[in-house]
Amino acid sequence: MTAATYQYVDLPDASVVTTRALLTARENIGDTVAARAMMCIHGGAGFGKTLAVNTCLRALEPGEDVRKITFRARPTARAVRFELFTALDLAGEPPRHPSEFDRLLKTALAERPRTFLVDEAQWLNGEAFEYFRYLWDEPSTQLAIIFVGGAGCHTVLRREPMLSSRIFIWQHFTRLTPGEVLESIPLFHPVWADADPEDITFADQHAAHGNFRAWAQLTAHTRTALARTGRPRVDQELLRWAFSRLA
Ligand SMILES: Nc1ncnc2c1ncn2[C@@H]1O[C@H](COP(=O)(O)OP(=O)(O)OP(=O)(O)O)[C@@H](O)[C@H]1O
Ligand SMILES: [Mg+2]
Repeated sequence: MTAATYQYVDLPDASVVTTRALLTARENIGDTVAARAMMCIHGGAGFGKTLAVNTCLRALEPGEDVRKITFRARPTARAVRFELFTALDLAGEPPRHPSEFDRLLKTALAERPRTFLVDEAQWLNGEAFEYFRYLWDEPSTQLAIIFVGGAGCHTVLRREPMLSSRIFIWQHFTRLTPGEVLESIPLFHPVWADADPEDITFADQHAAHGNFRAWAQLTAHTRTALARTGRPRVDQELLRWAFSRLA
């Protein structure tokens, strides 16, 4: 997959920026996978969690078997079993009885070490989290699990002491600081590469607020404005027009 696949809006020429959070995630994920442990990455919407985790997992050892599971609604333990069945590409029909299903999953997971990336983990309730713990605790499996979720993920996980006490590393994603914005945004997209740092700070204060997804949207509108006006560079008037679309 190309880096562009992880961009929220279709943004030609955007690059993945190696932010401090991304570097920390790389180290944390590497250590978690090496220890066959569980970790949790949590933080606000658009702060760059999904992009960071996908970038870091691609950089792992080529032999590492990584399976991605993304929840979009609140799953039951039964739904988690089905998601795992699909994520593991298991052949045949999913078993009908829970105990049979558990045996099948445990057998598959005992074959070799694996890493699960569980994104949107704020959707998981206690029962669903408990199912992951059950598989992870099973001595025959060698699972590493990376839970990634919005702000609520931390709260939900913390409520489950059986699971949260087993979390090896917690990583909190936050907004880019004003200093990080000035370092990262010129590397993010060519429209910012030669922009006046004051204009970048202006855009951050008025519109993007250190949120990477907001920066991606703002960049898309700024590209449009540059193309329509024929101006060579970003300026404050042009930025105000772009902000008006984000308000
Ligand atoms: N390190 C980065 N380099 C370049 N672009 C980034 C980076 N991090 C985030 N982005 C941009 O911000 C967008 C949002 O990031 P991402 O989807 O990873 O956020 P998230 O924290 O997973 O949000 P949510 O909680 O809503 O799932 C990305 O699609 C991408 O355009
Ligand atoms: Mg995400």
